[in-house]
Amino acid sequence: MELCDRYEKLKEKVINRRNYFDKFLLLLENHTTWLDSPASTRFHLAEERGLLRHGVGVAETLLRFREFLAPAITEESCAIVGLFHDVGKLGMPGKPLYLPNDNEWVIKNRGIKYKINPDVVAMGLAIRSLYLVTKYIPLTDAEAQAIAYHDGQYIDDNKIIAHKEEPLTLLLHWADYWTAHIYEEGRDKKIKDDGECKK
Ligand SMILES: [Fe+2]
Ligand SMILES: [Fe+2]
Repeated sequence: MELCDRYEKLKEKVINRRNYFDKFLLLLENHTTWLDSPASTRFHLAEERGLLRHGVGVAETLLRFREFLAPAITEESCAIVGLFHDVGKLGMPGKPLYLPNDNEWVIKNRGIKYKINPDVVAMGLAIRSLYLVTKYIPLTDAEAQAIAYHDGQYIDDNKIIAHKEEPLTLLLHWADYWTAHIYEEGRDKKIKDDGECKK
């Protein structure tokens, strides 16, 4: 299915907070780089629409985890935290975080296609995501924790919630890493019976 169709399907999962959600989307789609932004400067989906492709992928994986592991969590929760966990990567409205790299040498020799906009106020990516979402959509406590700590224990600062993660935080973390490192890297087609990847 095309990315746009998958994105539209996810939007349908948001019912109770639809008004808030629609207002946030109006801002994102019309006044930010949400629909075009890459997901990183260099490695992870460093391409046009990379951020949207990643958000849609994570939300879909999260919905699959939910179905089998935690059906009591709402699909709406999964759609919101999945789609927007990395929304901070677009920077702020009117100030995109990733700018096309104008240094041909760096693009050619180091593969860095984008550069960080120095005009965007610095803050952790997950915190910026949470900041942007909560301006528009009221979140549950568990949704806020999930967005803020979605990188899990890969980030030293996240130790303060170690062993205190809500189920949604754990599911979002694994949906994020599974999507980024298995689906986006095409490793799902190479997994052998013993769970390792073929070379
Ligand atoms: Fe992230
Ligand atoms: Fe992510």
